[in-house]
Amino acid sequence: MGSLTVRNLSEEIKRRLRLRAAASGRSMEEEVRLLLAEGAADAPDGAQSGARPAQRSAKPAATATTRQILLIIAGGIAAYKSLDLIRRLRERRYAVRVVMTKAAQEFVTPLSVGAIAGEKPFTDLFDQASEFDVGHIRLARDNDLIVVAPATADLMAKMANGHADDLATAVLLATNRKILLAPAMNPAMWSNKATQRNLKTLIADGVLTVGPNAGEMAESGETGLGRMAEPLEIVAAIENYFAGSPSAADTAEPAHKPLAGKHVVITAGPTHEPIDPVRYIANRSSGKQGYAIASAAAAAGATVTLVSGPVALPDPPGVKTVRVQTARAMLLAVQAALPANVGIFAAAVADWRTAGDVVQKLKKDASGPPKLSLVENPDILATVSKLKTKRPQLVVGFAAETEKVIEHAKAKLKRKGCDWIVANDVSAEGGAMGGDDNAVHLITAGGVESWPSQSKEDVARQLVARIAVALNGGSR
Ligand code: C5P
Repeated sequence: MGSLTVRNLSEEIKRRLRLRAAASGRSMEEEVRLLLAEGAADAPDGAQSGARPAQRSAKPAATATTRQILLIIAGGIAAYKSLDLIRRLRERRYAVRVVMTKAAQEFVTPLSVGAIAGEKPFTDLFDQASEFDVGHIRLARDNDLIVVAPATADLMAKMANGHADDLATAVLLATNRKILLAPAMNPAMWSNKATQRNLKTLIADGVLTVGPNAGEMAESGETGLGRMAEPLEIVAAIENYFAGSPSAADTAEPAHKPLAGKHVVITAGPTHEPIDPVRYIANRSSGKQGYAIASAAAAAGATVTLVSGPVALPDPPGVKTVRVQTARAMLLAVQAALPANVGIFAAAVADWRTAGDVVQKLKKDASGPPKLSLVENPDILATVSKLKTKRPQLVVGFAAETEKVIEHAKAKLKRKGCDWIVANDVSAEGGAMGGDDNAVHLITAGGVESWPSQSKEDVARQLVARIAVALNGGSR
């Protein structure tokens, strides 16, 4: 609305506005909004004529609660889903401004995008009118998040290499805002080493991603990883970003907290199974992934109970943390925490414990090493998955594998009776255990989604976003 208003003003008023904007460091559009808001605040209230004028507000009311998304639509068949994405975002009271690449306009018209966004999309780096009104630098900065959907292989390559030869790439290079990509392309293009190299670079640069998903492609008979995430999944990733970003968390409204009112129980870390009072059986789990999920779920508005084995991490803020040592204590703490809407079992629970209690320290003596007799620990994930009552709506397990990761994880999903498995490669090359990054595959009833290697915090955010979609009736 702002840019249209500006365009319709006389040259003289535009000149004055430009000066005002330059002096205040605001865009012309913002300046117009401010003037309108001030004007409205000063005008007598028609319904109660004679009442005192309302107080001048320092900020325009619209910008106090509305988050501005800059959506960049690149040229791919998935561009048609961007129309639905705009609609979903506007339903949730986001302001959406759109930049379309030249190729995007081959798939959807600026007219239909403008009609849904409520504002003409920006298409040209050298368009005089829009450069005067906003300019690509303002476009890059006057927003709370940039979303690229669909993000094509070509656009990702340009971003990774810092190109700026059209409006979309110039904005992406000039921005100081977070960028969320929803990649969409043919599976061969997605798995091509060049695309994967670019993706790695972009993730290292701090770019967030959602999808792609596995499924049928537009090309007949082609299936695989490359479908753009569904609009609701992208919305969930956006809401999750806002819920998790420290500056936004305090001001986020309930509508922006996708897990508000939900209880999430999470297990994390290793368990320690005593051999005697001073020795124990353990494993290398750091607890980082489970703790990151607990933080992301809390940031998304959930009530979180984190049942943690012994780790060297502080309790995440806003999370009820119950510390335990053994698998049996972990099971009891989980049962005590139920009911819950979601159970996420990220702990590396020891499979065995020693039989019986050894009260005194075992002595090293001439009789040689002691014979340890082991018994199996309860399987917490399987126990909770098979509960008749109090089973969480969604039960998510983890699988740490060193080979045939997906095949083994699919078998685990069946055996344990859970709904999803997050599988990762813990072989020496995979490096998930103890490390800061994680490349996971999400195995659901619908198939396998392979997420790019990213920080454990980003895996957590993406998982929480996916859970929010599933709880709200999206694909499970
Ligand atoms: O069988 P495995 O240990 O590979 O299964 C891993 C999954 O099962 C993880 O989600 C883990 O937290 C869970 N698990 C459990 N209790 C056990 C063993 C594994 O909850 N005793």
